[in-house]
Parts: sequence; C-alpha cells; structure tokens
Amino acid sequence: MVTKEYQIIAHNMDFAGRASSDVKRTLKALSMDNYLIKRICSASFEAEINVVIHSVGGYVQFNLDNEKVVLDFYDDGPGIFDIELAMQEGYSTASELDHANGFGAGMGLSNIKRSADIMLLESSPDGTHMKLTFYIKEKHHESL
Ligand SMILES: Nc1ncnc2c1ncn2[C@@H]1O[C@H](COP(=O)(O)OP(=O)(O)OP(=O)(O)O)[C@@H](O)[C@H]1O
Ligand SMILES: [Mg+2]
Repeated sequence: MVTKEYQIIAHNMDFAGRASSDVKRTLKALSMDNYLIKRICSASFEAEINVVIHSVGGYVQFNLDNEKVVLDFYDDGPGIFDIELAMQEGYSTASELDHANGFGAGMGLSNIKRSADIMLLESSPDGTHMKLTFYIKEKHHESL
C-alpha cells in the first residue's frame, strides 16, 4: 500500500503536471506494465491540468494497493456547471491564455473517461471531486 498527496496550485504553469510526473516515477519504480502507466499518467495529467486551469486550486491523493491505483482529485471550486455538457468532446471554457499554453481542446474529460476503468465525477460550486480507478490485474476477455 502506497499513499501520497500532492498540492495542485491554480494557474501556475511552472508546477502544472508535477504531481502526475511523480506518480509516473512511482509507478515506473514498481515496474508496472507500461501501457497501464501510460493510461494512468495521461488521465492524471488531464485531471491535474483541469484543476490548475479551471479551479482555484486543490490536491490529489494517490493510493496504490495490490489490485488498483486510485487517484482522487479535489478542488475548492467554482465547480463544473453542467457535467454532461463538460463531458462532451470539444466543449471548453478555457481562456485565451490556456489555449496559448496548449490546453482547451475540450478533450480532457472524455480522454480521462476512456483511460480509467472507473471515473466518478461530482461537482458543486464548493468544489469538484474526481475519483479515478485503474485495475492492475486486467481481466482477460476472451472473444467469442
Ligand atoms: N476541476 C474543474 N473545475 C471546474 N470546471 C472544470 C474542471 N474540470 C473541467 N471543467 C470544465 O469542463 C470543461 C471540459 O473539460 P476538459 O478537460 O474536457 O476540456 P478543457 O480542459 O477545456 O480542454 P483540454 O482538456 O482538451 O485541454 C472545461 O472547459 C471546464 O469548463
Ligand atoms: Mg482539460
């Protein structure tokens, strides 16, 4: 069991992605499957950047056990006004500056949903919580 917590600072591009980089280092050190690491880290990066550019700041908790990696992103608002709309590919409220930094295609949430085994998203004006679960032992699906 490994547990770590990282602060995510709003609107600070110098630190943006730092938590996800450390998660990657941790998973690599454990010799986890490379494809799984890729899925976890790309989802983590998208979620972390969302907290940086769309919220007033927050933190992420990383939990690892024998079965799964769980990432919990928390921020302190202003929340996602309409989750269903936000989940749509191409929908974005990113600013001009965010676009200049290479963000704002409106693809983050849909990519996260694709990458994670389970994505839970709850939001109110007080904040957003996104819980991402990735199973380490993939089930083997046999095609019929
Ligand atoms: N933590 C958050 N707090 C508030 N709003 C958010 C948060 N995360 C996402 N959103 C809202 O959901 C929209 C869609 O998010 P998504 O990550 O899909 O796209 P994006 O961040 O705008 O662009 P991209 O991720 O492609 O760079 C955002 O534009 C924003 O309005
Ligand atoms: Mg995004």
